[in-house]
Amino acid sequence: MSPARNPLAGLEGRHFISTQDLNDQELKALLDLAEELARGRHGKLLEGKVLGMVFFNPSLRTRTSFEAGTFQLGGHAIHLAVGQGVWKLEHRDGVVMDGAASEHLKEAVPVLARYCDLLAVRCFPSGSDWKEERKDPVVTGFADHSPVPLINMESSLYHPCQGLADMLTVRQKLKRPGGKKFVLAWTHHPKALPTAVPNSAALIAGRSGMDLALAHPKGYELDPLVMRQLQENADRLGTTLEISHKLDDALDGAHVVYAKSWGSLKHHGNEAAEKKLRSRHRKWIINGDGMARTDGGIFMHCLPVRRNVVVTDEVLDSPASVVVDQAENRLHVQKALMAALAGRLPRPATAPKRTRGGGS
Ligand code: CP
Repeated sequence: MSPARNPLAGLEGRHFISTQDLNDQELKALLDLAEELARGRHGKLLEGKVLGMVFFNPSLRTRTSFEAGTFQLGGHAIHLAVGQGVWKLEHRDGVVMDGAASEHLKEAVPVLARYCDLLAVRCFPSGSDWKEERKDPVVTGFADHSPVPLINMESSLYHPCQGLADMLTVRQKLKRPGGKKFVLAWTHHPKALPTAVPNSAALIAGRSGMDLALAHPKGYELDPLVMRQLQENADRLGTTLEISHKLDDALDGAHVVYAKSWGSLKHHGNEAAEKKLRSRHRKWIINGDGMARTDGGIFMHCLPVRRNVVVTDEVLDSPASVVVDQAENRLHVQKALMAALAGRLPRPATAPKRTRGGGS
């Protein structure tokens, strides 16, 4: 009998833009491999491979975990900060390039692919027109022009590596997440933040079979594309999707409280109007009273987090907080992802040979 095909074999050579790109078997197998790598079975899976990481925005966890993970697997990672030692890049088609950008993605990406076996890009929305930004033009441009696998390190719409790490953390802490309640809780913040993390957190929670509650003030609805994906996930897996405009009610009976602030997409690009709306919701903070309403729930956040704005010290310093485990899991899921995209999966452990006869 031939051995069953590893579902991750199908990821070789593919781009990774959203967790929605993975089918259920691939998602499960990726998290299984991440758990295996977390237990210390490294091997030099990326020996001789080069990862090129292009950052349009800052990072602590993403950069460090990709760089450390590539090194641990025997490969090499190159950090490229756009506009800071690397030419400013243009992504729009047909523009007269007489502005700040010196180079177009159409040349830069294929050139990078001649040096690198994997590429990764981070590009947040710039706060202009959401109708354009929701098309994720930079990550899409990289994907379109890259002959090697492209990893999304956070775009306008998705932060899929964070989503994978979040789900690995939920699996570790809840054991069997199916049927349990995941609350994505909007919180106040001094700035209008992107929606990529809440989108990916909600999408991956739905994929795990958890019942999903989105808690946010009116005006902070997620993008309709993501809402459609969330509903499709819920319909397919038989889970629930609820929206609440009252934080306390949403926290009742929660097993996971995932706090995240994001800016109102209705006012994307209109800073003054967004700030006016946001300033009415300073009470949206996760505190001890809120956590007391949960069913022994864990507290999650992607980091960086603003203490006593998003969440109180009391909660963040309590045993319920798993934020550092989430950050650690970035390392494990990304190692699994890179190995799969590069076609360098670990060999399956060989079963011990059976011997004939023998004693008891
Ligand atoms: N969570 C996350 O992506 O962290 P960084 O922005 O520091 O990479």
